[in-house]
Amino acid sequence: MSSYRVRLFEPVIEDDDVEAVVSVLKSGWLAHGPVVESFEKMFANYIGVEHAAAVSNGTVALMLSLKALGIGNGDKVLVPDYTFIATATSALMVGAIPVFVDVNYETFNIDIDDLQKKISETSAKAIIAVHLFGHPADIKAIKDIASDKGILLIEDAAQAHGAEAWGKKVGSFGDAAIFSFYATKNMTTGEGGMILSNNKQFIEKVKLLRNHGQVARYVHEELGGNYRITSIQAALGLTQLRKLDRLNEIRRRNAMILTNELTKLKGYVETPYEAQWAKHVYHVYALKLLPSVDRECVIKCMQSAGIETAIHYPLPLHKQPLFQKLEYKECCINSSVLSQRELSIPVHPKLSENDAKFVADVCKHCIQSCIKL
Ligand SMILES: Cc1ncc(COP(=O)(O)O)c(C=O)c1O
Repeated sequence: MSSYRVRLFEPVIEDDDVEAVVSVLKSGWLAHGPVVESFEKMFANYIGVEHAAAVSNGTVALMLSLKALGIGNGDKVLVPDYTFIATATSALMVGAIPVFVDVNYETFNIDIDDLQKKISETSAKAIIAVHLFGHPADIKAIKDIASDKGILLIEDAAQAHGAEAWGKKVGSFGDAAIFSFYATKNMTTGEGGMILSNNKQFIEKVKLLRNHGQVARYVHEELGGNYRITSIQAALGLTQLRKLDRLNEIRRRNAMILTNELTKLKGYVETPYEAQWAKHVYHVYALKLLPSVDRECVIKCMQSAGIETAIHYPLPLHKQPLFQKLEYKECCINSSVLSQRELSIPVHPKLSENDAKFVADVCKHCIQSCIKL
C-alpha cells in the first residue's frame, strides 16, 4: 500500500470494467478476436477517423506507424524536445534520426517558429506532434506546414484521449495518430496502444506488421513481430471508452478548482494554459514554479501532507544521456527552462471536489512556505 493519501495517478475501474474482463475470460477467447475489432471500430468512431489498429502499447504504435509510412534508415524525424522518451526512441527503433524542436512555453507543445527553422535546416521526412499533458499541439499550423513541405504528420496523442482542437478530436488531423492505454492514462487497458488513420492501406500494413507479416496461415510476407493486444485488454478498453467523456469532465472540474486557488500566487507559480481553440483533458496538471520558489522544497512539503507529485520531465530530450552522442547540446531554450520549472500535482477523476480543494490548499501553502529568501 502507498503511504500517500492522494496519488498522482489512479485508474478508474468500475463494476462494468470488471464484468467485461470476466466475460472475456469466461468466453475462452483471450487473444486477438472480435472484441479487439470492436474496440478498434468504437475508438476510431469516437475520434472521428475511419480505420484503426490496436497494438500492444503506445511505443509500438509509434514505431509501427513510422515503419508503415516508410520511414527508415537515416531519415530525419522532427520531434518536440519536451516529451516522454518514446516519441523519439520510436524513430531510433526504425533506424531514423530524431531532430529535436523546441516547445512553446505556454502549452509545452512543439513551437511553430522552431519547427519551421528545423525544417529549413534538415530534410525531415516526418513530424511527430505530441499533444502533451492533454493539451492539443497547434495542429492546424503544423498540418499546414507538413502539407506545404510534403512531410508526413504523426500525432502522438498518448496523453490526450478526448482532447479537442477547433472542435475536432486530436488524433483526427495527421496522416496517422497514436494513443497509449497505459495504466495512468485517461483511459486504460493496463498496457495497450492504438493507431488511427483515414488511409486504409496504411492501417492494413500496420496490421500485417503487428502479426509477423503473416498474409495467410504460416505464410509471412515481411518482417513483422508480435505487437498484438489481447481480447481481455480490448474488453476493458471498450468499457473505459464509454466513461472517458465523463471522467475527462471531472478532470476539467478538478483542474478549475486547482487553478482558481493557485492563480492567487502570481509571481510564484503559473497554472496550466488552455488555448481558446483547445479543449484540455488534463492527463497531467502541470504547474510552472517560477525561480523564486524552491521546487524540491514544494515536493517535500506536499509529500509530508500525503500528496504525491512528479516532475514531467526533469530532462528535455536533448539532455538525455541516450541522446548525448547526437550532439544536440545547444538545442532548445524553452524545454530547458520548463524542465526546471514543471511540477505535476494530482487532478485525476478519483478526486472529489473536496479532495481537489485539499490538493489546492496544500499546494498553495507549500509554495508560500518554499519561497526563496
Ligand atoms: C507522449 C507519449 N508518447 C508515447 C508514449 C508511449 O506509450 P506506452 O507507455 O503505452 O508505450 C507515452 C507513454 O507514456 C507518452 O506519454
